[in-house]
Amino acid sequence: MSNYHIKHLEEYYQVYRKSVRAPENFWEEVAEEHFLWQKKWDNVLSWDFSKPEVKWFEGAQLNITENCIDRHLATRGDKTAILFEPNDPKDDAEHITYNQLHQRVNQFANVLKDQGIKKGDRVCVYLPMIPELAIAVLACARIGAIHSVVFAGFSATALSTRINDSDCKMVITSDGSYRGAKTIDLKGIVDEALKECACVETVLVAKRIHSDIDMKSGRDKWLQPLLDTASTDCKAELMNAEDPLFILYTSGSTGQPKGMVHTTAGYMVYTAYSFKNAFQYKEDDVYWCTADIGWITGHSYIVYGPLANGATTIMFEGVPSYPDFGRFWEIVEKHKVNQFYTAPTAIRALAKQGLELVEKYDLSTLKVLGSVGEPINEEAWHWYNDNVGKKKSPIVDTWWQTETGGIMITPIPFVTPTKPTYATLPFIGIQPALMDENGKELKGNQVDGRLCIKFPWPSMARTIWGNHQRYKDTYFSAYENKYFTGDGALRDEVGYYRITGRVDDVIIVSGHNLGTAPIEDAINEHPAVAESAIVGFPHDVKGNALYGYVILKDVGETRVHDNLRKEINQIITEHIGPIAKLDKIQFTQGLPKTRSGKIMRRILRKIAHKDTSNLGDTSTLLNPEVVQDIMDNAL
Ligand code: WT7
Repeated sequence: MSNYHIKHLEEYYQVYRKSVRAPENFWEEVAEEHFLWQKKWDNVLSWDFSKPEVKWFEGAQLNITENCIDRHLATRGDKTAILFEPNDPKDDAEHITYNQLHQRVNQFANVLKDQGIKKGDRVCVYLPMIPELAIAVLACARIGAIHSVVFAGFSATALSTRINDSDCKMVITSDGSYRGAKTIDLKGIVDEALKECACVETVLVAKRIHSDIDMKSGRDKWLQPLLDTASTDCKAELMNAEDPLFILYTSGSTGQPKGMVHTTAGYMVYTAYSFKNAFQYKEDDVYWCTADIGWITGHSYIVYGPLANGATTIMFEGVPSYPDFGRFWEIVEKHKVNQFYTAPTAIRALAKQGLELVEKYDLSTLKVLGSVGEPINEEAWHWYNDNVGKKKSPIVDTWWQTETGGIMITPIPFVTPTKPTYATLPFIGIQPALMDENGKELKGNQVDGRLCIKFPWPSMARTIWGNHQRYKDTYFSAYENKYFTGDGALRDEVGYYRITGRVDDVIIVSGHNLGTAPIEDAINEHPAVAESAIVGFPHDVKGNALYGYVILKDVGETRVHDNLRKEINQIITEHIGPIAKLDKIQFTQGLPKTRSGKIMRRILRKIAHKDTSNLGDTSTLLNPEVVQDIMDNAL
């Protein structure tokens, strides 16, 4: 038996040891017993982190949609697969059964084929959280097209960069989207983006807000009429284990976003196995992850992981604050949610609202609470534990990344004793290492270092689309023979991990991973701006907010500064999206630089944190005099 479902702590340790001592045997057993293969593998794992190259289940053939849909039909055909909860609570929820999902995915897959999409083609999906989003993703997987979902909060420029980077032939979008009381003109954003994208031949448009939009003839097609006439049969394409399943972009510390490439078999096995255990999902449970499918959390733990387990997974279109801040709890009561998975930033925003909104609803069905995206602070942890979980639902603080594909460090609920702010123990098969400044592994407990992973796991990204060298440089060059996460962590006296935050130029704002360089590039496009530097500073809801130091070409008058601040945020919104707007913008004459011309962000960070007691030695700077000036004018 492969211990597919871990039930107590002794079993965790036993299975963990097995997964580390004989990883190939362990994952082979899991893969054998719990998935549908058209052909089994010749080799479980081959790897070489120096190239880097990792292959799991080589030689195997499968289709992930047969695992997520077809194989459930005999026993779960009438069970709800996707439960869609719309933006407006007055509108009806939609229960899509496994049978219906099968039909709809097949129809969509046939539409893709009719429109000339073939195995290996890239399809960009730019949709709000409506059923078509999950169905489009699965339809791509059905025919072996590589989906590249772009979060529908990204701007036209960000969208076009991502479309061009992976040469997408098609964009799937909608006429618009709802966001609380607002509507967003998604199709307008797509039109703007596509001015820059010669690769896109077809745009499929779902109707959501029924707005009057421009349809470019020959390029744009309404989705529904095509679906209506499409057959509900579509044979699943035979995919090799290592064929790409999807590309998902994440920010890096330099300009261009990184298109992380995830492949088929390993991703499926790991997301399914981790979903089952990290949430202790049982057959009739209703599971809800509040993330957007535009992020990895949604890919792995709204779509693939839950569906591979035959689960009922909720897709929520709306926002936590509409029509009021009780919306999440209303949904938990209405759909009798058993597992609830959200981000610390949402918890902090809800904790500010007063308890009446939580106490008004029956949350007694909740069994497991999850947290993801950034470190959860102690106060938020307790609020979540006391008021939502009523101290009886364990909190799983799950640490992982777009690059890791699945959850890496997490408690297993009812198995691992939790500890506030600790992601606790490595998940089965995961071998973390903490490294010191000199690149040596820190052994033993009570140590603090940079978090690496020293052995491959099935769902790790295999490359960056079109740039394997960057993949190697970013993740496999800092420490020999190890995957470097970019995070710092400490290990306590019992071996529990606590993630302390990014150690690179990535800032997590409201759980969104933002690189400083692309934001600075955007700001520098403003004609009045000479140079800029972005750092993070603590924010009570967002976790971190952005502080920008901006040098103007002409110093100008202070009274125009407020307008400039607006314009700078406007440019950021256009280039990246509203999530990257700056909370504070300080205009300055200079930025502290080293003699080699590198901006000393450490100093800027301290000033933004209002922690200037120990700035360290500034005398070696090229321009030490600017430091005092920046401090005097800090916001
Ligand atoms: C970065 C990855 C994985 C899905 C969402 C984010 C931070 C993520 C935690 C956690 C502390 C966390 C890390 C990581 N992070 N989860 N439970 N505790 N930090 O994916 O956008 O790729 O961001 O998010 O800094 O490196 P992502």
